[in-house]
Order: sequence, then C-alpha cells, then structure tokens
Amino acid sequence: MTHGSHDLRLTTDIGPFAQTLLDLEATTAEAYDRFVFRGDPQLADEVRRVTFARGVADFSPPTARLLFDGDHGEPVGMLALVPDTLFIERRRAAALAVGRVLHQHRATAVRERMAEAGAISLKAEPGDLVLARIAIAKQAEGRGYGRWLIERAADEARALGCARLVLDVAADNPRAFSLYSRSGFVELARRTVSSPSSPEVELTYCHLACPL
Ligand SMILES: CC(C)(COP(=O)(O)OP(=O)(O)OC[C@H]1O[C@@H](n2cnc3c(N)ncnc32)[C@H](O)[C@@H]1OP(=O)(O)O)[C@@H](O)C(=O)NCCC(=O)NCCS
Repeated sequence: MTHGSHDLRLTTDIGPFAQTLLDLEATTAEAYDRFVFRGDPQLADEVRRVTFARGVADFSPPTARLLFDGDHGEPVGMLALVPDTLFIERRRAAALAVGRVLHQHRATAVRERMAEAGAISLKAEPGDLVLARIAIAKQAEGRGYGRWLIERAADEARALGCARLVLDVAADNPRAFSLYSRSGFVELARRTVSSPSSPEVELTYCHLACPL
C-alpha cells in the first residue's frame, strides 16, 4: 500500500516490537492514566504489560497492528480494531486480570477509579467496530499516517459488514479530535467523572461514531 512516496505496511505480526507497541499504546492513555493511576506510572505500566501478555487488552494480538513505512526500521504507529462482542469479552477479562494485579498491590483506590472510568466509557453496540487505539510515533506525527490508519479502519469495518466505527477520546486531546472530525466522526455523548476523594482530577470521554 502506498502513501505519497512511501510504502506502508500494516501488520498483526508484532514480532520483536512488543515493547514498542506498549510504548505507543501508552501515549493514547495519558488522560486515563492521570485519572486512574495518579502518581504511579509503574503500576500503570504493570497493568498494561499484564493485560497485554494475557491476551485480554484491547490492544493484545491479533487485534493490534503495527504500521511500518518501508521494509526496515521501527514501527511508525499502531492501531487496534475490536469487533463489538470481542470488545465486551476482553473488557471483562481485563478487569479480572487487573483485579489480581491490584490485589497484590492492595490498590483499592486504583480499582475504584478504574471502575469509575469504565462506567463512563463507550458501550459497543451490535454491528460496531471499535477503534480501540491509534497512535503515531512522536517523530512521525503530522505526516498523514493517522489519517491513513483511519481510512484502513473504515475499509476493514466495511469489509466486516459493520455499520459504524466507534471510539472514545479524552476531551483534552485536540489533535486526536481534529483527526477524527476531519475523518467523518461525530460526537454522540460526552461523559465526565471525578473521584469523591479528589474532585479536582476529572476524566471526560467523548463517544464518537463514524457511520459507514
Ligand atoms: C492523534 C494522532 C494519532 C494523529 O496522527 P498524525 O499522523 O499526527 O495525524 P495526521 O498527520 O494524519 O493528521 C491528521 C489530522 O490531524 C490534524 N493535525 C495534524 N497535526 C496537528 C497538530 N499539530 N495540531 C492539531 N491538529 C493536527 C490535522 O487536522 C490533520 O488533518 P488533515 O489530514 O486534514 O490535514 C497522533 O498525534 C498521536 O498518536 N497522538 C498520541 C496518541 C493519541 O492521542 N491517540 C488518540 C487517542 S484517542
């Protein structure tokens, strides 16, 4: 597949790039991590690693793909597309896996905030393909890779007979918003949560959908 003068390759073969995938994924979750994990990035990373390794994260293979530009080098981006039923299944399985990790850390407050964030997140409907993650490496931003990945996601959704591509975006991510609105997404709802113990830290999710 070509993009300008480049050869782009989107693959579910993660090969030796699992850590790169995790690092890219982490850039999509800044607002969530700030709300749920507060000052504990190590715990955030552990949760990410465990759910990924057990195959229950939204971005575990085979739903995760890496984007390469040319045959050599590091991935320039990642994309995770999850059909509605698998999305619901994986979220349940991930919650169980995370519960075990957090139990070891006695992180009750983290568990509560995770449930609060889950409660305001998108609920996939039958016929939805969930665009669960998209990220472009910092040094490769602004070159149209994000736009290209959304087009591939829409192609895949159509091929699967899905009626919509749907996603959650944190309200404080104008760059992602701009990409989604130029790609045909419209806002369905906006939901905010704050913890009773520290109401100044909020998380707002906007649920977006792109009809196909
Ligand atoms: C959001 C993100 C995926 C965009 O990818 P990208 O490859 O840089 O985006 P593109 O180059 O394809 O640009 C697409 C649109 O983004 C917008 N955009 C690009 N650079 C921008 C900038 N510096 N500021 C604001 N908007 C910008 C433009 O509207 C562009 O539209 P156009 O195609 O009509 O020109 C990327 O910045 C990223 O990975 N961010 C961190 C992870 C993240 O936030 N993921 C989304 C979580 S929901």
